[in-house]
This record gives sequence, C-alpha cells and structure tokens, in this order.
Amino acid sequence: MSDTKISSIPAAPRPVQAADEITRRDFLNEITLGALGIAGLGSVAVTYQYFSPNVLFEPSTTFRAGNPDLYPMHSVTFLQDQQVYIVRMPEGFYAVSAVCTHLGCITQWKPDADMIACPCHGSKFKADGTKIEGPAPRPLPHFAISLTADGELLVDKLRNIRPSELLKV
Ligand code: FES
Repeated sequence: MSDTKISSIPAAPRPVQAADEITRRDFLNEITLGALGIAGLGSVAVTYQYFSPNVLFEPSTTFRAGNPDLYPMHSVTFLQDQQVYIVRMPEGFYAVSAVCTHLGCITQWKPDADMIACPCHGSKFKADGTKIEGPAPRPLPHFAISLTADGELLVDKLRNIRPSELLKV
C-alpha cells in the first residue's frame, strides 16, 4: 500500500546541465587546486633561497690597466670602470683614486686647469692627488701599481702606497 504512494510521487526534475557549464563543485575544485599550486610554488622558491649559498660577489680589487705604451708621457687617464687615474710622468707611473676624500664623489680630470676637481663641493687636487683646496680632508690615495709577468700594468686598489712610490718602466 505504502509502496504505491511513494511510487506515485513524481521525481523532482533534475536540472539539465550543459556540457561546458561549470558546476559549483568544479569551480571550488579549481580554486582549491590554484591556491595549492601557488602555495607550492612559494614553498619551492623559499626552499631554493634557503639552500642557495649566501655569497656576495664583489668585483676584484686588482685589475690590469694594459700595456704602459697605452699611456703617453705627461698624461692623466681616467679609468671609469675602476674609478682610478693612471698618471704617467717622466719619473714613472702612479695610480690615483678618483674618489674624493670628502664625501666620496667621483672627481674629474680637468686638463685645461691641470688639476683634478670634485664636482660636488669644489675640492681640487693636483694630478698626483695632492690637495690644492676645498673641504676634502686628505689627498687622493695612491694605489699599488706594478708590472705583470707579461708586461702589463697591474693596480691593487686594496693596497695604498706613499705617493713617492712610483713605478719606473
Ligand atoms: S665630495 Fe668632493 S668636495 Fe665634497
């Protein structure tokens, strides 16, 4: 008896789903997969950074400045990438820092005035780095300069030397 009643109730109509329609469940699944993917990429990046060596790569402080014949007598040559002047005088070569001893600006060689000038606060130096005037507290330092076995100039910016120590070539 009761079986007939149940079977007489019409089934609720099921929604017809189009083939390309996204259900709520599919949408939530895709959102979850996307979030898990982003979290996974983030954890891979953090793990890679953790295991990669924490090394600071600095440029070498020693550099080759080329053959001495590249520098004419009585010349001051600014090597921009090294921020050093290679000075050649009859008594020899010397390498002078181009970094001002006041606040670290890069100085400029002024051939017309025969001096090195700082554009920031007006310090002036002779070609050998001796201070002429301005707020710079010290002369421009000289770096060690020598010859390599194959005859090129070698400058060591970590070794300061006295201005009287020239390289005679
Ligand atoms: S930085 Fe050169 S004078 Fe101030």
